Amino acid sequence: MIEFRGLEKAFGAKVVLRGVSLTVRDGETMVIIGGSGTGKSVTIKHVVGLLEPDAGTVAVDGQVVSELRRRELTALRATVGYVFQFAALFDSMTIADNVAFGLRRSGAMSEEQIRERVTESLRLVEMAGTERTMPAELSGGMRKRVGLARAIALRPKYLLYDEPTTGLDPVTSAVIDELMIRTREALGVTSIVITHDMRSAYRVGDRIAMLYEGRIRQEGTVAEIQQSTDPIVRQFIEGRPSVRAEDVAAPGAVPAAEGSQP
Ligand SMILES: Nc1ncnc2c1ncn2[C@@H]1O[C@H](COP(=O)(O)OP(=O)(O)OP(=O)(O)O)[C@@H](O)[C@H]1O
Ligand SMILES: [Mg+2]
Repeated sequence: MIEFRGLEKAFGAKVVLRGVSLTVRDGETMVIIGGSGTGKSVTIKHVVGLLEPDAGTVAVDGQVVSELRRRELTALRATVGYVFQFAALFDSMTIADNVAFGLRRSGAMSEEQIRERVTESLRLVEMAGTERTMPAELSGGMRKRVGLARAIALRPKYLLYDEPTTGLDPVTSAVIDELMIRTREALGVTSIVITHDMRSAYRVGDRIAMLYEGRIRQEGTVAEIQQSTDPIVRQFIEGRPSVRAEDVAAPGAVPAAEGSQP
């Protein structure tokens, strides 16, 4: 279980989180939605101690992350796979070495075991046979899949996905969603998925929480969010701009496409 309790965080004068409270139950996939810059990435960085709260707590399995000693934090990080927003592969390493990176650092497995685990993890994300490939040879979607393989290679109890489908075409996004669902079934992980892709949110989520102005505006099952009557939530899930359309383009202001028939 991951529990955020009254989490507050500011950077200088910029207040980002004003009291985020949210519980992620074992086995579920919690999707966090919200506009760009609302603090979604900042929120999950607290789970692995990449940021320290100004106030409030984040607890993983009852352990308050900001109170852990270095060794305890290292142990915690070994249980949490993190798929970063910007696929951070090491460009000078092969795909196999990228996926093996965390396994080697933990020092708990033999090279033989690592090789097997890498092959298995690449197979799970449908990237079998790419062990000797270099990251530069891969498309954006493939890099995202390798990022996923690297996270699952550690057989984590938790997976944090930061914008796993952003910047991908709809078909590739659907493939990544499918892989996340399959990973959850295969490994029984508890996940937090940050996305502004509502199609993806509905596909992979059990519950959805919307971050707005530093707090959770609404949380609920996918069906509850889809039926929300909160205008802020509706505006976001329907992808409507906050400015009224009539303020942007007066009727008739949009020119007809060239060659179109009247
Ligand atoms: N280390 C940092 N130092 C200073 N400001 C930061 C830092 N990290 C995040 N911020 C600021 O906190 C705010 C929230 O950032 P965050 O990355 O969490 O947004 P987000 O909701 O993930 O947005 P996006 O959807 O664009 O990824 C932003 O204004 C950002 O500039
Ligand atoms: Mg972000």
